[in-house]
Amino acid sequence: MHTEICDRLGIEFPIFAFSHCRDVVAAVTNAGGFGVLGATGHSPHALGIDLAWIDEQVKGKPYGVDLLLPVNYDKTAPQRGAPEQPQAAEPAGPRFPAGYQAFLDDLLTRYGVPELPGHLPASAGALSVSPQAASNLLDVAFGHPIRLVASALGPPPADLVRQAHDRGVVVAALVGTAEHARRQQAAGVDLIVAQGTEAGGHTGQISTMVLVPEVVRAVAPVPVLAAGGIVTGAQMAAAMALGAQGVWCGSVWLTTEEAETDPSVKKKMLAASSADTVRSRSLTGKPARMLRSAWTDEWESDQAPAPLPMPLQTMLTASAQQRINRNAGAGGSGATELATYFVGQGVGLMDRIRPARQVVEQMVADYLAVAENFAAQLQG
Ligand SMILES: Cc1cc2nc3c(=O)[nH]c(=O)nc-3n(C[C@H](O)[C@H](O)[C@H](O)COP(=O)(O)O)c2cc1C
Repeated sequence: MHTEICDRLGIEFPIFAFSHCRDVVAAVTNAGGFGVLGATGHSPHALGIDLAWIDEQVKGKPYGVDLLLPVNYDKTAPQRGAPEQPQAAEPAGPRFPAGYQAFLDDLLTRYGVPELPGHLPASAGALSVSPQAASNLLDVAFGHPIRLVASALGPPPADLVRQAHDRGVVVAALVGTAEHARRQQAAGVDLIVAQGTEAGGHTGQISTMVLVPEVVRAVAPVPVLAAGGIVTGAQMAAAMALGAQGVWCGSVWLTTEEAETDPSVKKKMLAASSADTVRSRSLTGKPARMLRSAWTDEWESDQAPAPLPMPLQTMLTASAQQRINRNAGAGGSGATELATYFVGQGVGLMDRIRPARQVVEQMVADYLAVAENFAAQLQG
């Protein structure tokens, strides 16, 4: 499974792990893959702490950072500002259009989800998705030995590409169509992640099986990684047969020992089939694949308002999500019905909790079994 991108990034296996959890990032990098820390929910201060911790754990082995840089976002939304600004912001309520808070209050009442205890601050749901906030995160990231910076939701700004290239950092971008891949190539991106609709998180409508060869053809010789639904080594072998130089996985790490996934959601994921996810705008304002739950169903109902644009929907729903997760964890049945999180269709293959290292090792072993099988077929 050794491809050109392995040499370029100094890794043993072309298995990329997107995770918001620093423990997963370090574990995958230490297992010979490449960990990528999702930093959009971090303040610059928190990112600095996590990257320093990763540096200590991986001792010079390569890892990267991922930012969300949407081409279109609501510029009227309050944004994270200076690097030293603390993570919590003022309560989000008053700036939302009429009816939204009332819809959420009614929803939480109908499902019997109790308020947060008074001593817990309500989450503000701040995302670092404005150009200024992303640039503050980048400044922090470039102070650490990152080897890759990835972005999603549109071509990265020219300044990001220039700064990364000046430092020898590989620029990666996630795409859901061949057209988007061409735009990324034109923007100077070094590595394209072709992410099929099966993926957890923000995702388009084209399947991985169709998208990967289309993108490989569109941007050759730029290397392409396959993403979306990939959980096993056999799927990795299939992706590489389609022309990908490796795989970029997000969902599979959510049920690892290291992941900080809410325990009630982890339990739901282990029980879920591939039919139990849905593309919904209910958490971020953009279509993102997540577990189908009473939450996603309620946002589809006739009584529900249309989700707000990014990043307002995240701010609107943050404290409700916090209440739901806290009470689902404590065994509240209404909260458990509502609980959801981003995950892809590969969830149907995620049926036990394992250390992240074991996921990497199993993927490699399964890949090799498939490759040997192919070789034997050629001889036979
Ligand atoms: C919980 C979760 C959160 C995600 N958040 C982001 C993100 O902030 N930025 C990003 O570029 N991709 C994000 N993704 C997408 C992943 O980078 C990756 O492309 C995707 O998970 C691959 O498909 P899979 O989930 O089937 O493995 C997220 C995925 C998941 C599961």
